[in-house]
Amino acid sequence: MSVIRLATEIPGPGSRAVIERRQRAVPRGVPLAAPIALVSGENAVVTDVDGNRLIDFAGGIGTLNTGHRHPAVVAAAKDQLDRLIHACFQVTAYEPYVVAAERLNALAPGDFPKKTMFVNSGVEAVENAVKIARYHTKRSAVLCFEHAFHGRTLLGMTLTSKVMPYKKGFGPFAPEVYRLPYPYCYRCECTRPLGSCCRAPRGSFEALVASHADLDAIAAVVIELQLGEGGFVPAPPEFVTMLAGFCRDHGVVLIDDEIQTGFGRTGRMFAAEHYGVAPDLITTAKSLAGGLPLGAVTGRAEIMDAAHVGGLGGTFAGNPVALAAAMAVMDAMAHDQVIARGERLGERLRGRLSALAQRHATIGDVRGLGAMVAMELVSDRATKAPAKELAGTLQAACLRRGLLLLTAGTFGNVVRILVPLTVEDAVVDEGMDVLEAALLDATVG
Ligand SMILES: Cc1ncc(COP(=O)(O)O)c(C=O)c1O
Repeated sequence: MSVIRLATEIPGPGSRAVIERRQRAVPRGVPLAAPIALVSGENAVVTDVDGNRLIDFAGGIGTLNTGHRHPAVVAAAKDQLDRLIHACFQVTAYEPYVVAAERLNALAPGDFPKKTMFVNSGVEAVENAVKIARYHTKRSAVLCFEHAFHGRTLLGMTLTSKVMPYKKGFGPFAPEVYRLPYPYCYRCECTRPLGSCCRAPRGSFEALVASHADLDAIAAVVIELQLGEGGFVPAPPEFVTMLAGFCRDHGVVLIDDEIQTGFGRTGRMFAAEHYGVAPDLITTAKSLAGGLPLGAVTGRAEIMDAAHVGGLGGTFAGNPVALAAAMAVMDAMAHDQVIARGERLGERLRGRLSALAQRHATIGDVRGLGAMVAMELVSDRATKAPAKELAGTLQAACLRRGLLLLTAGTFGNVVRILVPLTVEDAVVDEGMDVLEAALLDATVG
């Protein structure tokens, strides 16, 4: 039996009324991918104000790897609410912060002593990782990549690549940030065979870096091992190995932004595990606390300890309720075998999308690690001209049929899937059936 139950057309009258009020009360700069208003969610299914049940392939942009309202997360948060809501970790200690830090230290890759600090969001984790790296190295330059997304604060948007909508009109940007090309294999013009990355030769990489920045003044490299907002592009392994070697040899801190890739999304706890590298610092947020706002920086103890007392922190950073939720997420991931489920889910999604690509020439590429899967739409497979409009039409067609779905990519032509990893097989299949039917509509109609 279908889980999608449409009580009204979408958006229904209730949603339309909320959206109208939203327009009057909220600045237009805050975007809205799907013009509906939700009242509840359970695992991968959400219900809107009109009583429509929709399948959620957007997962709060990757914050819900363990699903909407995982029972263990709800129970842990409620239990913490009954005891201590907040105190501020800079004023007094509380055990959940310490235990959650110990657990993240143990989970992060790397056989060396680690420490963790908590913050409120992804971008705050990135900002703090850069602060820590600068303090540790006593250097200021930061390398980042084209197509990257690292958040919306001044430094976060400086590190972010895409101008519209993230940066337009918001300059001047932070100094000492240098951007390098990301190895986007599908759009790379090199003629090397697949699997031998043209950007991996160390000499040419060093020359490229040296043309932007003083090699002795680089504090950190910030990278997403698979681009998130930039279009779900995984970095080739040989490029990552080369980059890790470059960082090691030049004393540069390797900051691995796992905010979207982390917590099982790629079929491993962290994407870094696919590459066999142990980053110096890892930033996490999104699915870390099952939907509650929490971010973290985890990394080598001697780097994390560099900054002076009082140099790091934040009033709400490491809120006890969010931390209780995060520990329940870590428990649930082990108990529900979420990582293995994510790996199987990825195979299922890739299988369906690859079969679809055989029938639709508009699908230029199907890619992604684990369940971090996407398809890139093109108007011509030979020229790879991005089909941005089609991606938008498809997204709207899916919504009308009861499937929440997000686009991504510098060219706006990537359709990405961030469904909870705990989703039931029947629900995934139903969502994929909708996607298939909507694609037919969007390409024929
Ligand atoms: C890779 C990556 N880094 C940083 C961020 C910023 O996180 P937040 O929106 O929680 O500040 C995001 C958000 O999408 C992200 O995907």
